[in-house]
Amino acid sequence: MRVEQIEVIVANRSCLWFRADDIRWLVMSVPASGSEIAPPQSGPHVWKSHDVGHPDVWTWRLSNDEVSELLAASAPFVDGDEQDLAGITAAMFPLPSLGGSLLRLRRRVTHGRGFEVIRGFPSDDVSEQQSAAVFAGIGAHLGSLRSQNAAGDLLGHVRNVGADPTDPNVRIYQTSRRQTFHTDSTDVVGLLCLETAAQGGDSLLVSAAALYNEILDRDPTLAAVLFRPVATDRRGEVPEGCDPYFMIPVLTWFDESLTVLYQRQYIESARRFEDAPPLTSEVIKALDLFDEIANSASFHIRMRLEVGDMQFVHNHALLHDRTGFIDKPNSPRHLLRLWLSVPDDRQLPPIFAQRYGTTTVGDRGGIQAVGGDQKFSADLHADKPE
Ligand SMILES: [Fe+2]
Repeated sequence: MRVEQIEVIVANRSCLWFRADDIRWLVMSVPASGSEIAPPQSGPHVWKSHDVGHPDVWTWRLSNDEVSELLAASAPFVDGDEQDLAGITAAMFPLPSLGGSLLRLRRRVTHGRGFEVIRGFPSDDVSEQQSAAVFAGIGAHLGSLRSQNAAGDLLGHVRNVGADPTDPNVRIYQTSRRQTFHTDSTDVVGLLCLETAAQGGDSLLVSAAALYNEILDRDPTLAAVLFRPVATDRRGEVPEGCDPYFMIPVLTWFDESLTVLYQRQYIESARRFEDAPPLTSEVIKALDLFDEIANSASFHIRMRLEVGDMQFVHNHALLHDRTGFIDKPNSPRHLLRLWLSVPDDRQLPPIFAQRYGTTTVGDRGGIQAVGGDQKFSADLHADKPE
Protein backbone atom coordinates (compact mmCIF):
# COMPACT_ATOMS: atom_id res chain seq x y z
CA MET A 1 0.00 0.00 0.00
CA ARG A 2 1.32 3.43 -0.89
CA VAL A 3 0.63 6.16 1.66
CA GLU A 4 1.00 9.87 1.02
CA GLN A 5 0.98 12.55 3.65
CA ILE A 6 -0.05 16.19 3.28
CA GLU A 7 0.14 18.72 6.05
CA VAL A 8 -2.32 21.61 6.19
CA ILE A 9 -1.78 24.43 8.65
CA VAL A 10 -5.04 26.03 9.74
CA ALA A 11 -5.13 28.69 12.42
CA ASN A 12 -1.81 27.59 13.84
CA ARG A 13 -2.98 24.00 14.01
CA SER A 14 -1.31 21.21 12.14
CA CYS A 15 -3.71 18.85 10.38
CA LEU A 16 -2.25 15.74 8.78
CA TRP A 17 -4.08 14.07 5.91
CA PHE A 18 -3.18 10.70 4.52
CA ARG A 19 -4.15 9.14 1.20
CA ALA A 20 -3.78 5.41 0.82
CA ASP A 21 -3.95 3.61 -2.56
CA ASP A 22 -5.49 6.69 -4.17
CA ILE A 23 -8.90 5.77 -2.81
CA ARG A 24 -9.25 6.89 0.74
CA TRP A 25 -8.36 10.01 2.62
CA LEU A 26 -7.93 9.88 6.31
CA VAL A 27 -7.54 12.73 8.71
CA MET A 28 -5.11 11.55 11.34
CA SER A 29 -6.77 13.50 14.05
CA VAL A 30 -4.28 15.72 15.77
CA PRO A 31 -6.54 16.39 18.74
CA ALA A 32 -6.88 19.98 19.78
CA SER A 33 -5.89 18.94 23.27
CA GLY A 34 -2.62 17.43 22.14
CA SER A 35 -1.58 19.70 19.30
CA GLU A 36 -0.80 22.89 21.17
CA ILE A 37 2.84 23.87 21.24
CA ALA A 38 4.10 24.26 24.79
CA PRO A 39 5.70 27.48 26.03
CA PRO A 40 9.23 27.33 27.47
CA GLN A 41 9.16 25.23 30.63
CA SER A 42 10.16 26.04 34.19
CA GLY A 43 9.79 24.30 37.53
CA PRO A 44 11.45 21.53 39.56
CA HIS A 45 10.95 18.95 36.78
CA VAL A 46 13.17 21.02 34.46
CA TRP A 47 16.75 20.10 35.21
CA LYS A 48 20.09 19.36 33.64
CA SER A 49 22.62 17.00 35.17
CA HIS A 50 24.44 19.71 37.15
CA ASP A 51 21.16 20.90 38.71
CA VAL A 52 20.30 17.59 40.35
CA GLY A 53 22.86 17.69 43.10
CA HIS A 54 24.27 15.07 45.43
CA PRO A 55 22.49 11.68 45.57
CA ASP A 56 21.67 12.38 49.24
CA VAL A 57 19.16 14.94 47.97
CA TRP A 58 17.06 12.32 46.19
CA THR A 59 17.92 9.23 48.25
CA TRP A 60 15.89 8.16 51.29
CA ARG A 61 18.04 5.93 53.49
CA LEU A 62 15.82 3.60 55.48
CA SER A 63 16.45 3.46 59.21
CA ASN A 64 16.46 0.17 61.14
CA ASP A 65 12.99 1.00 62.49
CA GLU A 66 11.69 1.66 58.98
CA VAL A 67 13.09 -1.66 57.72
CA SER A 68 11.45 -3.43 60.69
CA GLU A 69 8.11 -1.84 59.84
CA LEU A 70 8.38 -3.02 56.24
CA LEU A 71 9.32 -6.56 57.28
CA ALA A 72 6.40 -6.71 59.71
CA ALA A 73 3.90 -5.52 57.09
CA SER A 74 5.17 -8.07 54.59
CA ALA A 75 4.97 -11.06 56.97
CA PRO A 76 1.42 -12.14 55.96
CA PHE A 77 2.62 -12.34 52.36
CA VAL A 78 5.55 -14.56 53.29
CA ASP A 79 4.45 -16.79 56.16
CA GLY A 80 0.73 -16.18 56.48
CA ASP A 81 -2.45 -16.46 54.47
CA GLU A 82 -1.79 -13.65 52.00
CA GLN A 83 0.42 -15.26 49.38
CA ASP A 84 -0.95 -13.51 46.30
CA LEU A 85 0.57 -10.07 45.74
CA ALA A 86 -1.70 -9.33 42.77
CA GLY A 87 -4.52 -8.01 44.97
CA ILE A 88 -2.36 -6.08 47.43
CA THR A 89 -3.71 -2.76 48.75
CA ALA A 90 -2.35 -0.17 51.18
CA ALA A 91 -4.85 -1.39 53.80
CA MET A 92 -3.40 -4.91 53.55
CA PHE A 93 0.11 -3.53 54.10
CA PRO A 94 -0.13 -1.22 57.12
CA LEU A 95 2.69 1.31 57.48
CA PRO A 96 1.69 3.54 60.41
CA SER A 97 4.89 5.56 60.45
CA LEU A 98 6.21 5.13 56.88
CA GLY A 99 2.91 5.80 55.09
CA GLY A 100 3.10 9.60 55.33
CA SER A 101 6.72 9.64 54.13
CA LEU A 102 5.71 7.58 51.09
CA LEU A 103 2.98 10.08 50.20
CA ARG A 104 5.54 12.89 50.37
CA LEU A 105 7.90 10.84 48.19
CA ARG A 106 5.08 10.37 45.68
CA ARG A 107 4.53 14.11 45.58
CA ARG A 108 8.22 14.71 44.84
CA VAL A 109 8.04 12.17 42.02
CA THR A 110 4.86 13.51 40.37
CA HIS A 111 5.24 17.22 41.13
CA GLY A 112 8.94 17.66 41.85
CA ARG A 113 12.13 16.54 40.14
CA GLY A 114 10.43 13.36 38.89
CA PHE A 115 12.45 10.64 40.61
CA GLU A 116 13.44 9.29 44.02
CA VAL A 117 15.46 6.36 45.37
CA ILE A 118 14.80 4.41 48.58
CA ARG A 119 18.02 2.78 49.78
CA GLY A 120 18.82 0.34 52.55
CA PHE A 121 16.29 -2.46 52.26
CA PRO A 122 18.23 -5.69 53.01
CA SER A 123 17.20 -7.72 49.96
CA ASP A 124 20.38 -9.80 50.34
CA ASP A 125 19.20 -11.03 53.76
CA VAL A 126 15.57 -11.88 53.03
CA SER A 127 13.81 -14.14 50.55
CA GLU A 128 12.89 -12.93 47.08
CA GLN A 129 9.25 -13.37 48.12
CA GLN A 130 9.72 -10.97 51.02
CA SER A 131 11.52 -8.37 48.89
CA ALA A 132 8.72 -8.63 46.34
CA ALA A 133 6.08 -8.23 49.05
CA VAL A 134 7.77 -5.12 50.48
CA PHE A 135 8.14 -3.62 47.02
CA ALA A 136 4.52 -4.34 46.09
CA GLY A 137 3.36 -3.02 49.47
CA ILE A 138 5.23 0.25 48.98
CA GLY A 139 3.76 0.40 45.47
CA ALA A 140 0.25 -0.05 46.88
CA HIS A 141 0.82 2.99 49.12
CA LEU A 142 1.95 5.04 46.13
CA GLY A 143 -0.81 3.99 43.72
CA SER A 144 -2.41 1.01 42.00
CA LEU A 145 -0.40 -1.73 40.31
CA ARG A 146 -0.84 -1.91 36.54
CA SER A 147 -0.27 -4.71 34.06
CA GLN A 148 3.16 -4.65 32.40
CA ASN A 149 2.32 -6.90 29.49
CA ALA A 150 -0.62 -8.48 27.72
CA ALA A 151 -0.41 -11.46 30.09
CA GLY A 152 -1.42 -9.24 33.03
CA ASP A 153 1.83 -9.36 35.03
CA LEU A 154 1.75 -6.77 37.82
CA LEU A 155 5.21 -7.67 39.07
CA GLY A 156 7.70 -7.39 36.22
CA HIS A 157 11.09 -9.01 36.00
CA VAL A 158 13.82 -7.04 34.27
CA ARG A 159 16.56 -9.42 33.24
CA ASN A 160 18.24 -10.79 30.18
CA VAL A 161 16.20 -13.78 29.07
CA GLY A 162 18.27 -14.22 25.93
CA ALA A 163 15.63 -12.61 23.73
CA ASP A 164 16.65 -11.34 20.30
CA PRO A 165 16.76 -7.52 20.50
CA THR A 166 16.17 -7.25 16.75
CA ASP A 167 12.86 -9.16 16.98
CA PRO A 168 10.10 -6.52 16.67
CA ASN A 169 7.92 -8.45 19.12
CA VAL A 170 10.55 -8.45 21.88
CA ARG A 171 10.55 -5.80 24.62
CA ILE A 172 14.11 -4.46 25.04
CA TYR A 173 14.14 -4.94 28.83
CA GLN A 174 14.26 -8.70 28.17
CA THR A 175 17.77 -8.34 26.71
CA SER A 176 21.16 -7.14 27.97
CA ARG A 177 21.31 -4.54 25.21
CA ARG A 178 21.59 -0.81 25.83
CA GLN A 179 18.11 0.62 25.76
CA THR A 180 17.43 4.10 24.42
CA PHE A 181 15.85 7.00 26.29
CA HIS A 182 12.16 6.15 26.54
CA THR A 183 9.06 6.24 28.70
CA ASP A 184 6.98 3.34 30.00
CA SER A 185 3.21 3.31 29.48
CA THR A 186 2.24 4.13 33.04
CA ASP A 187 2.34 7.13 35.41
CA VAL A 188 5.22 5.94 37.59
CA VAL A 189 7.69 3.08 37.09
CA GLY A 190 9.43 1.52 40.08
CA LEU A 191 12.47 -0.75 40.11
CA LEU A 192 13.83 -2.87 42.96
CA CYS A 193 17.35 -4.18 42.43
CA LEU A 194 17.77 -7.81 43.53
CA GLU A 195 21.04 -8.49 41.72
CA THR A 196 23.53 -6.17 40.05
CA ALA A 197 25.43 -6.86 36.83
CA ALA A 198 29.12 -7.76 36.62
CA GLN A 199 29.52 -4.73 34.38
CA GLY A 200 27.20 -1.94 33.23
CA GLY A 201 23.44 -1.79 33.67
CA ASP A 202 23.51 1.85 34.84
CA SER A 203 20.25 3.74 35.07
CA LEU A 204 20.02 7.04 33.13
CA LEU A 205 17.36 9.73 33.58
CA VAL A 206 16.68 12.93 31.64
CA SER A 207 14.12 15.72 31.97
CA ALA A 208 11.77 15.96 28.96
CA ALA A 209 11.08 19.64 29.69
CA ALA A 210 14.81 20.43 29.69
CA LEU A 211 15.12 18.69 26.31
CA TYR A 212 12.17 20.66 25.00
CA ASN A 213 13.60 23.99 26.15
CA GLU A 214 16.89 23.20 24.44
CA ILE A 215 15.23 22.18 21.15
CA LEU A 216 13.04 25.27 21.29
CA ASP A 217 16.21 27.36 21.60
CA ARG A 218 18.05 25.60 18.81
CA ASP A 219 15.25 25.02 16.29
CA PRO A 220 11.65 26.06 17.08
CA THR A 221 10.38 24.47 13.87
CA LEU A 222 11.67 21.05 14.91
CA ALA A 223 10.33 21.60 18.44
CA ALA A 224 6.84 22.01 16.93
CA VAL A 225 7.22 18.75 14.98
CA LEU A 226 7.40 16.84 18.27
CA PHE A 227 3.74 17.72 18.92
CA ARG A 228 2.54 15.82 15.83
CA PRO A 229 1.46 12.18 16.15
CA VAL A 230 3.82 9.46 14.97
CA ALA A 231 3.17 5.72 14.72
CA THR A 232 4.47 3.71 17.70
CA ASP A 233 4.60 -0.09 17.54
CA ARG A 234 2.65 -2.07 20.15
CA ARG A 235 5.28 -4.83 19.75
CA GLY A 236 2.72 -7.55 19.25
CA GLU A 237 0.62 -6.70 22.34
CA VAL A 238 -2.51 -5.52 20.53
CA PRO A 239 -5.76 -5.03 22.45
CA GLU A 240 -9.02 -6.15 20.87
CA GLY A 241 -10.11 -3.82 18.05
CA CYS A 242 -6.86 -1.82 17.97
CA ASP A 243 -4.24 -1.40 15.28
CA PRO A 244 -0.83 -2.98 15.95
CA TYR A 245 0.51 0.54 16.35
CA PHE A 246 -0.90 3.74 17.84
CA MET A 247 -0.56 7.36 16.73
CA ILE A 248 0.65 9.74 19.41
CA PRO A 249 2.90 12.80 19.61
CA VAL A 250 6.21 12.59 21.45
CA LEU A 251 5.18 15.71 23.39
CA THR A 252 1.75 17.00 24.35
CA TRP A 253 0.77 20.23 26.09
CA PHE A 254 -2.42 19.73 28.05
CA ASP A 255 -3.82 21.25 31.23
CA GLU A 256 -0.65 23.34 31.61
CA SER A 257 1.57 20.24 31.61
CA LEU A 258 4.16 19.07 29.11
CA THR A 259 3.91 15.28 28.85
CA VAL A 260 6.27 12.95 27.00
CA LEU A 261 5.55 9.51 25.54
CA TYR A 262 8.49 8.15 23.58
CA GLN A 263 10.21 4.95 22.53
CA ARG A 264 12.35 5.48 19.41
CA GLN A 265 12.87 1.77 18.78
CA TYR A 266 9.11 1.27 18.71
CA ILE A 267 8.65 4.24 16.37
CA GLU A 268 11.25 2.73 14.05
CA SER A 269 9.72 -0.76 14.15
CA ALA A 270 6.24 0.64 13.38
CA ARG A 271 7.57 1.16 9.86
CA ARG A 272 6.96 -2.56 9.32
CA PHE A 273 3.21 -1.85 9.06
CA GLU A 274 2.24 -0.93 5.51
CA ASP A 275 -0.61 1.31 6.56
CA ALA A 276 1.38 3.21 9.20
CA PRO A 277 1.98 6.81 8.10
CA PRO A 278 5.62 7.11 7.01
CA LEU A 279 8.16 9.11 8.98
CA THR A 280 8.96 12.32 7.14
CA SER A 281 12.52 13.61 6.97
CA GLU A 282 11.46 16.49 9.22
CA VAL A 283 10.16 14.09 11.89
CA ILE A 284 13.36 12.06 11.70
CA LYS A 285 15.41 15.25 12.17
CA ALA A 286 13.33 16.21 15.19
CA LEU A 287 13.67 12.74 16.78
CA ASP A 288 17.41 12.68 16.07
CA LEU A 289 17.85 16.03 17.78
CA PHE A 290 15.73 14.87 20.74
CA ASP A 291 17.91 11.74 21.11
CA GLU A 292 21.15 13.68 20.63
CA ILE A 293 20.38 16.10 23.44
CA ALA A 294 19.09 13.33 25.74
CA ASN A 295 22.39 11.51 25.25
CA SER A 296 24.45 14.58 26.12
CA ALA A 297 26.13 14.14 29.51
CA SER A 298 25.13 17.66 30.47
CA PHE A 299 21.44 16.73 30.29
CA HIS A 300 21.08 13.22 31.77
CA ILE A 301 22.11 11.80 35.10
CA ARG A 302 23.51 8.32 35.69
CA MET A 303 23.12 6.09 38.73
CA ARG A 304 23.90 2.49 39.55
CA LEU A 305 21.28 0.78 41.68
CA GLU A 306 22.61 -1.33 44.54
CA VAL A 307 20.93 -4.47 45.86
CA GLY A 308 17.84 -3.37 47.81
CA ASP A 309 17.56 0.03 46.08
CA MET A 310 14.10 1.06 44.92
CA GLN A 311 13.89 3.73 42.23
CA PHE A 312 10.63 5.52 41.31
CA VAL A 313 10.40 7.61 38.12
CA HIS A 314 7.61 9.78 36.71
CA ASN A 315 7.09 8.77 33.08
CA HIS A 316 5.22 11.92 32.06
CA ALA A 317 8.11 14.23 32.92
CA LEU A 318 11.27 12.09 32.56
CA LEU A 319 12.71 9.58 30.11
CA HIS A 320 14.82 6.70 31.31
CA ASP A 321 17.44 4.46 29.80
CA ARG A 322 19.73 1.63 30.86
CA THR A 323 23.22 0.95 29.65
CA GLY A 324 24.15 -2.48 28.27
CA PHE A 325 25.43 -4.99 30.80
CA ILE A 326 27.25 -8.26 31.36
CA ASP A 327 25.74 -10.70 33.85
CA LYS A 328 27.67 -12.35 36.67
CA PRO A 329 28.23 -16.01 35.71
CA ASN A 330 25.92 -17.60 38.27
CA SER A 331 23.69 -14.75 39.41
CA PRO A 332 22.36 -12.67 36.52
CA ARG A 333 21.27 -9.06 36.94
CA HIS A 334 17.68 -9.03 38.18
CA LEU A 335 15.32 -6.19 39.01
CA LEU A 336 11.66 -6.28 39.94
CA ARG A 337 9.49 -3.66 38.32
CA LEU A 338 6.18 -2.02 39.20
CA TRP A 339 4.00 0.09 36.97
CA LEU A 340 1.83 2.39 39.04
CA SER A 341 -1.15 4.64 38.41
CA VAL A 342 -1.08 7.34 41.06
CA PRO A 343 -4.04 9.31 42.41
CA ASP A 344 -2.57 12.84 42.51
CA ASP A 345 -1.06 12.81 39.04
CA ARG A 346 -1.70 15.27 36.20
CA GLN A 347 -4.52 15.13 33.67
CA LEU A 348 -3.52 13.50 30.39
CA PRO A 349 -4.90 14.43 26.95
CA PRO A 350 -7.61 12.13 25.53
CA ILE A 351 -5.22 10.77 22.88
CA PHE A 352 -3.47 8.80 25.67
CA ALA A 353 -6.55 6.59 26.07
CA GLN A 354 -5.53 4.48 23.05
CA ARG A 355 -2.42 3.41 24.96
CA TYR A 356 -3.51 3.85 28.59
CA GLY A 357 -6.99 2.34 28.19
CA THR A 358 -8.45 5.39 29.96
CA THR A 359 -7.06 8.73 31.09
CA THR A 360 -8.84 8.60 34.46
CA VAL A 361 -6.36 9.76 37.09
CA GLY A 362 -5.50 6.87 39.42
CA ASP A 363 -6.89 4.20 37.08
CA ARG A 364 -4.95 4.33 33.83
CA GLY A 365 -1.94 2.91 32.06
CA GLY A 366 -0.30 -0.44 31.69
CA ILE A 367 -0.53 -2.82 28.79
CA GLN A 368 -4.11 -3.73 27.94
CA ALA A 369 -5.08 -7.39 27.52
CA VAL A 370 -4.97 -8.94 24.07
CA GLY A 371 -8.22 -10.85 24.52
CA GLY A 372 -10.07 -8.13 26.41
CA ASP A 373 -10.44 -10.28 29.53
CA GLN A 374 -7.39 -9.52 31.67
CA LYS A 375 -6.26 -11.76 34.50
CA PHE A 376 -3.67 -10.25 36.80
CA SER A 377 -0.83 -12.04 38.51
CA ALA A 378 2.33 -11.20 40.42
CA ASP A 379 4.42 -14.26 39.64
CA LEU A 380 7.90 -14.40 41.12
CA HIS A 381 8.92 -16.82 38.40
CA ALA A 382 7.53 -15.05 35.33
CA ASP A 383 9.90 -14.43 32.42
CA LYS A 384 12.49 -16.87 33.78
CA PRO A 385 15.32 -17.47 31.31
CA GLU A 386 15.14 -20.82 29.47
FE1 LIG B 1 11.43 1.36 30.60
